[in-house]
Amino acid sequence: MDTDKGALSSVVALGANIICNKIPGLAPRQRAICQSRPDAIIVIGEGAQLGINECQYQFRYGRWNCSALGERTVFGQELRVGSREAAFTYAITAAGVAHAVTAACSQGNLSNCGCDRDKQGFYNQEAGWKWGGCSVDVKYGVEFSRRFVDAREIKKNARRLMNLHNNEAGRKVLEDRMKLDCKCHGVSGSCTTKTCWTTLPKFREIGHILKDKYKEAVHVEAVRASRLRQPTFLKVKKTQSYRKPTDTDLVYIERSPNYCEEDSSTGSVGTQGRLCNRTSPHTDGCDLMCCGRGHNTHQYTKVWQCNCKFQWCCFVKCNTCSERTEVFTCK
Ligand SMILES: *[C@@H]1O[C@H](CO)[C@@H](O)[C@H](O)[C@H]1NC(C)=O
Ligand SMILES: *[C@@H]1O[C@H](CO)[C@@H](O)[C@H](O)[C@H]1NC(C)=O
Ligand SMILES: *[C@@H]1O[C@H](CO)[C@@H](O)[C@H](O)[C@H]1NC(C)=O
Repeated sequence: MDTDKGALSSVVALGANIICNKIPGLAPRQRAICQSRPDAIIVIGEGAQLGINECQYQFRYGRWNCSALGERTVFGQELRVGSREAAFTYAITAAGVAHAVTAACSQGNLSNCGCDRDKQGFYNQEAGWKWGGCSVDVKYGVEFSRRFVDAREIKKNARRLMNLHNNEAGRKVLEDRMKLDCKCHGVSGSCTTKTCWTTLPKFREIGHILKDKYKEAVHVEAVRASRLRQPTFLKVKKTQSYRKPTDTDLVYIERSPNYCEEDSSTGSVGTQGRLCNRTSPHTDGCDLMCCGRGHNTHQYTKVWQCNCKFQWCCFVKCNTCSERTEVFTCK
């Protein structure tokens, strides 16, 4: 038995070693966490993907659509410029990892965590109900995200301060949006006793909030404390006072490129070949999306079943309808 277990765990360890060495772009400390917690690395990957998918959804009509040129990492392709777009990607992936780890814990999928024990069974005097069911342990998920996601910041520069701030902002937004679910107990629906538990918000909600924060993102600069050379904190640029950004502000240190053309120095993939809408006045419109380069028109015939009628008995008879349609892509 014991030898089997030993053999199994060394196979798992070997697997973890191979997996952890194959994941591109992990910092040394992240690789160490990966090796010691191979069960968590899968969930971390899912959390990062959750963030990337949400980013692509939120920016589907933008010139920048959440893709970038450059090295692939577990967090997707990273933006070289410390822009507000980079700020968004850091916040959403840090929140994604915290969300996925918290969800996995509550479903018993990860060792070392579960439901929030600080709540289990306690009576909430003020509100008049008891903590019951499984309150998700968001503190664990947030702490895990902090340990893993933040470990990629190894350079001691302004960009590090920016990234760490945005990671924390993403996690704070998640924590602020935790929900309470309750259930009544008692004869025929009477609520003689009530139990409640915390649940995670839908990740889409976090995406919308961070998108709003992206629009209001704050331009900051790093300040070096006099005796130390390293940048030590961020302050809002363009103010005489030393105002610091708030906990949930997204912050950036460099202006965004326009993302029109492919440019490896900024990591922009450009908008050539993107679908656009000929009549929209917004960023998905061909004028803005194609940056004045014009668009190509592609015509095709759309075919579908129509005028379906129920025939006695028992089948459905349809006609085939077709329509010429057009799509537009940027030159
Ligand atoms: C937990 O594990 C089950 C079974 O492998 C899986 O179906 C489920 O999606 C997992 N949940 C999370 C949140 O990872
Ligand atoms: C984003 O735009 C690039 C460049 O046009 C395109 O190759 C890529 O498929 C787009 N990504 C998404 C998720 O739409
Ligand atoms: C194009 O934009 C117009 C105006 O915003 C909108 O009404 C229309 O539904 C859009 N078309 C497509 C195919 O998205």
